[in-house]
Amino acid sequence: MNQLIPITYEENCLIDKNHVATPRKVVEQIYNLIGISDFKSVWLPFNNYDSEFKYKAEELNIKYKATHIFDDLGNDFFITNPPDNCDLMISNPPFEQQNEIIKRSFDLIDKGQIKSFALLLPLSTLETKYRANLYEKYKDKISIIIFKDRIKFLGKTTAFNKACCWVCYNIEKLPPLSWV
Ligand SMILES: C[S@@+](CC[C@H](N)C(=O)[O-])C[C@H]1O[C@@H](n2cnc3c(N)ncnc32)[C@H](O)[C@@H]1O
Repeated sequence: MNQLIPITYEENCLIDKNHVATPRKVVEQIYNLIGISDFKSVWLPFNNYDSEFKYKAEELNIKYKATHIFDDLGNDFFITNPPDNCDLMISNPPFEQQNEIIKRSFDLIDKGQIKSFALLLPLSTLETKYRANLYEKYKDKISIIIFKDRIKFLGKTTAFNKACCWVCYNIEKLPPLSWV
């Protein structure tokens, strides 16, 4: 039988095409835009190990919890609870699972387990009936930030350049639509 999930984080880095790292300047830009220091309990759900989301949060003395499917506890996003009083979830999730991730993010909002979120997603996240229906339902507090240039993600030998946007929910500092 084929093994679907590799045993170690290192093995996953080599074979998982979704394992790409977000450049520091992208992290710094969104932290500035949302005013990261205003948040008191931040969850970085796909961002343990080599993540600039985590390193930058540490530099800024932000109170955060970084989890990852390969950390000591095997913190699968779909079954891991946010930290107490989580007022922001921010991450670059695996794009291939975006439908399920977006759905769970709104479920966490509905249950009051997170107050706001910002997800870095491919621009094509705005397509498809399934996602459009979800976004439409929450449109009163959604902000979309579109990148004018493609992001060159790190960690792959071949280039992984993608047209991307941030899909944010309930972040007061952001206008409904903007470009960076
Ligand atoms: C697009 S990468 C982001 C990597 C990096 N943290 C960053 O943003 O710079 C998404 C990461 O999520 C991890 N991942 C995939 N499925 C997951 C799950 N269900 N729960 C938690 N982490 C998961 C992958 O192993 C991968 O490292």
